Amino acid sequence: MLRLLGWLALYSLAVLLLSRLLIRKETMPVGGPVAHQPFWASPGPRHSQCLPNHMVANASLTLPSRHRLFLTYRHCRNFSILLEPPGCAEDTFLLLAIKSQPGHVERRAAIRATWGRVRGLPLKLVFLLGVAGPPPPAQLLAYENREFGDILQWGFAEDFFNLTLKELHLQRWLAEACPQAQFVLKGDDDVFVHVPNMLEFLDGRDPGQDLLVGDVICQALPNRNTKVKYFIPPSMYRARHYPPYAGGGGYIMSRATVRRLHMAAEAAELFPIDDVFVGMCLQQLGISPTHHAGFKTFGIRRPLDPLDPCLYRGLLLVHRLSPVEMWSMWALVTDEGLQCAAPQPRGTG
Ligand SMILES: *[C@@H]1O[C@H](CO)[C@@H](O)[C@H](O)[C@H]1NC(C)=O
Ligand SMILES: *[C@@H]1O[C@H](CO)[C@@H](O)[C@H](O)[C@H]1NC(C)=O
Ligand SMILES: *[C@@H]1O[C@H](CO)[C@@H](O)[C@H](O)[C@H]1NC(C)=O
Repeated sequence: MLRLLGWLALYSLAVLLLSRLLIRKETMPVGGPVAHQPFWASPGPRHSQCLPNHMVANASLTLPSRHRLFLTYRHCRNFSILLEPPGCAEDTFLLLAIKSQPGHVERRAAIRATWGRVRGLPLKLVFLLGVAGPPPPAQLLAYENREFGDILQWGFAEDFFNLTLKELHLQRWLAEACPQAQFVLKGDDDVFVHVPNMLEFLDGRDPGQDLLVGDVICQALPNRNTKVKYFIPPSMYRARHYPPYAGGGGYIMSRATVRRLHMAAEAAELFPIDDVFVGMCLQQLGISPTHHAGFKTFGIRRPLDPLDPCLYRGLLLVHRLSPVEMWSMWALVTDEGLQCAAPQPRGTG
């Protein structure tokens, strides 16, 4: 009897100690000094793998700091994949490659829930990310990737001038994990893609032929105003005009063009504006991008009149929508009762 009591006492003591330990562990402040950062949360040490080019940095002291930073690290073009979705299925017809950022959680959610809901279709959705500051915990991205299998993240810093790195690394991933996709759409995470119209547009086209279609800009002048985000000094681009290019908000390419673009991008020196960079590669390859009025990468007339169902006729892609506008547009596009009163010819000019 006495022995049993002794065991009981020992047992309860052990339980007490264990529970205290567990509770202590659970109430440890998040982000405290002992919190472990997952390896993908810290871009820091990666810099050491590719050293800054001080010669260039010293030669460009008169440029804005972002331009200096770009030039100092321009030769660094090999970054590892931190999170990766499964590769494409054999029958992938269209890959939707959407430039996002770790913090844009609600934009990704809106896309997945609306036009990006492609289950059952030979389509695949992938979000392209770099690494950025603390806002969303890295665990969230890992969770999104487990849950949706659509996060493709590399170890370079998120920056407007690093979008060309995103382009180059997307090309590498496509060659490795998705070479069979017949067409690839590349766009921003605030675009609305009218998937049925897009599929109709692509229907019957040969992915083995060169094709790049979007909102094509010809004879664009490099911006020489230092105060503007797109400022490019003559030392970085000398010619008068940029080559024709499709606005980076969203454009579509055939498999043949994707493959050739990859080769050209590997050989080219990086240029900080990603859509112009693609235009430069196309020019080298002798491919002319095709303009299509259905790509509204510079937005549509505001305020958006979502009650005009004719708005959606012939529309392929619209740029710069908030998640709420994305939902509204989706609701209208999927409303079967809404008919465009006066059928208009499909614009292709
Ligand atoms: C660049 O400038 C820094 C500081 O002014 C100097 O220490 C460094 O030696 C210079 N590097 C080159 C390659 O000129
Ligand atoms: C990047 O990788 C390629 C091929 O693996 C290599 O040839 C090149 O030197 C690397 N560049 C840098 C800056 O590390
Ligand atoms: C691009 O990313 C690299 C690697 O994270 C970083 O060193 C560089 O500063 C970034 N470039 C710009 C312009 O922010």
